[in-house]
Amino acid sequence: MINTSGTKTTRGVALRLERVRRVFDNKFVVIEGMDLRIDAGEFLAVLGPSGCGKSTLLRMIARLAAPDDGRIIAEPEQFQTAFVFQDAHLLPWRTVLNNAALPLELMGIGREDRNAKARTALAQVGLAEAEDRYPAQLSGGMRMRVSLARALVTDPRLLLMDEPFAALDEITRFNLEVQLRELWQRRGMTVIFVTHSISEAAFLANRAVVLARRKGRIKLDRRLDLPPERTNDLRSDPRLGYEMKLLMGAMEEE
Ligand SMILES: Nc1ncnc2c1ncn2[C@@H]1O[C@H](COP(=O)(O)OP(=O)(O)OP(=O)(O)O)[C@@H](O)[C@H]1O
Ligand SMILES: [Mg+2]
Repeated sequence: MINTSGTKTTRGVALRLERVRRVFDNKFVVIEGMDLRIDAGEFLAVLGPSGCGKSTLLRMIARLAAPDDGRIIAEPEQFQTAFVFQDAHLLPWRTVLNNAALPLELMGIGREDRNAKARTALAQVGLAEAEDRYPAQLSGGMRMRVSLARALVTDPRLLLMDEPFAALDEITRFNLEVQLRELWQRRGMTVIFVTHSISEAAFLANRAVVLARRKGRIKLDRRLDLPPERTNDLRSDPRLGYEMKLLMGAMEEE
């Protein structure tokens, strides 16, 4: 398999959505006839107005809900998925280490093994020093990093993120974006990242889709023409500004 940056990977999942439809209460059509192909190892950002169906889409891809019509085909068929939400959802009575190790504990993996994996994941998000702390002793950015470590600990081939950094201050968010991008480059999993932020979508992703307010229509599907390395220097780069302008234009058009 070849990912979007042209390097070989067997890490990511490829997804194909065909005529996907999702209806609530038998009458309220949120998504209709959605066709979307996502390559293995792609970093896709999903933008769109509040209520357009972004979380609904992510839940179907995560197999937490089934489409009412159409289908979602994954290659390979079975794979590890991780989901990161806007709220870190940590268990307050567990230490950072035990929060990060939770998915492995639920899989029945022994203490030594799971702690070793959790420590590696915590180190990757810069939290090696905080493993004995409790969630109440962490900043919002640190809590989100624990949540990210907990998502990475199972070595997922598909990472789904639903506005994970929306509640953080800008500098914390900027640094987490850089970290996430590095993790993705190192691991090559497929990432689908839902956000309201045009600058975040453009900075992080290799490709962005903009959904319309109604029925999940795809207004823009754009491969971002930006260098693979995304450091904070890129934030003032005119190429980023250009991509943001295109995304903004699609967001504004009816
Ligand atoms: N379980 C449900 N039952 C009924 N309606 C629902 C349900 N879940 C979502 N909806 C409706 O479907 C639409 C899409 O919701 P969704 O949460 O996917 O939007 P979103 O794009 O993620 O919005 P936001 O950006 O505010 O998070 C909304 O109008 C919402 O009210
Ligand atoms: Mg949502």
